[in-house]
Amino acid sequence: MDKREHEKVDVEVCRTRGSSLHRSTNSGDRVHVSLVITLLIGVWCAQALEVSVGKVSFVEVMNGSSVLLPCTYSSCIGIKNLYFNWKYNENGTMNMLCEGVIPAEGLEPHVVTYHERIMFVGSSKESNISVLLWNVTFEDEGEYTCFARNPKEKNRNHSAIFHLIVVDELKKVDNTLTVIIVSVIGGVIGLIIVVMVIKAVVVHFLNKNQEKNKECLVSSSGNDNTENGLSGSKADNKASPKA
Ligand SMILES: *[C@@H]1O[C@H](CO)[C@@H](O)[C@H](O)[C@H]1NC(C)=O
Ligand SMILES: *[C@@H]1O[C@H](CO)[C@@H](O)[C@H](O)[C@H]1NC(C)=O
Ligand SMILES: *[C@@H]1O[C@H](CO)[C@@H](O)[C@H](O)[C@H]1NC(C)=O
Ligand SMILES: *[C@@H]1O[C@H](CO)[C@@H](O)[C@H](O)[C@H]1NC(C)=O
Ligand SMILES: *[C@@H]1O[C@H](CO)[C@@H](O)[C@H](O)[C@H]1NC(C)=O
Repeated sequence: MDKREHEKVDVEVCRTRGSSLHRSTNSGDRVHVSLVITLLIGVWCAQALEVSVGKVSFVEVMNGSSVLLPCTYSSCIGIKNLYFNWKYNENGTMNMLCEGVIPAEGLEPHVVTYHERIMFVGSSKESNISVLLWNVTFEDEGEYTCFARNPKEKNRNHSAIFHLIVVDELKKVDNTLTVIIVSVIGGVIGLIIVVMVIKAVVVHFLNKNQEKNKECLVSSSGNDNTENGLSGSKADNKASPKA
């Protein structure tokens, strides 16, 4: 929708320019405004086509499983005969995995795959040119490049790199480790709660006892003070040899 609007504006700009050739004096302001609009669109469309593998550009999978290699494109000027491919970097040589051309927005591409375990799962309706890799082996680990070129913008090249990390079951030990860590933390938190509850109960009972004691000690508060002083000095004596 946005793209169409931009195109409309572009057309209007052209019309304004065309008409301004004939009556340049009275439409000067309109030309000025449309020039500003064209400049703004120019800034907005600095990166006319954008190719992205998403926020997280790597994934860790287990051997034998299948993995989605995600890639999407977006273009603010629209696409026509958008060419795309996926390549795997094997020690510097780029092996073509699949390639295709999307004739126009919303039209499904004709895709050719050169790898027996690669399947195109994208959809041009979602600007999605992701592929699926089946039965992952350790040799599949590495860099996958999603490449796209839009003839509508002078064949500029755009690409994004996705990293695949293949692990075997051994890595599951890490999972059990995290489970252990989480349960230990949970246990500690539970213990703290239990201790706090016990403390609260104990304090509650102590308070009750103190209240009873207070009632008893109302008449003999002098004795109480001296006792406190003695126990305080005892504690000091104990502490000093350690230090
Ligand atoms: C993954 O690799 C390990 C080690 O080579 C192997 O034992 C295991 O069978 C493999 N798993 C699958 C699903 O291929
Ligand atoms: C790439 O490197 C690995 C290890 O260095 C080697 O086993 C493999 O054969 C190499 N592949 C090619 C195509 O050179
Ligand atoms: C993937 O592996 C399974 C079992 O190992 C096998 O039956 C299947 O044909 C494999 N698929 C591909 C595309 O290699
Ligand atoms: C692209 O298509 C695949 C397969 O339909 C889907 O799993 C994935 O989520 C899509 N990606 C985006 C960004 O829409
Ligand atoms: C885009 O890449 C191709 C090779 O894939 C190259 O021939 C072409 O010159 C590049 N175009 C630009 C504009 O860089």
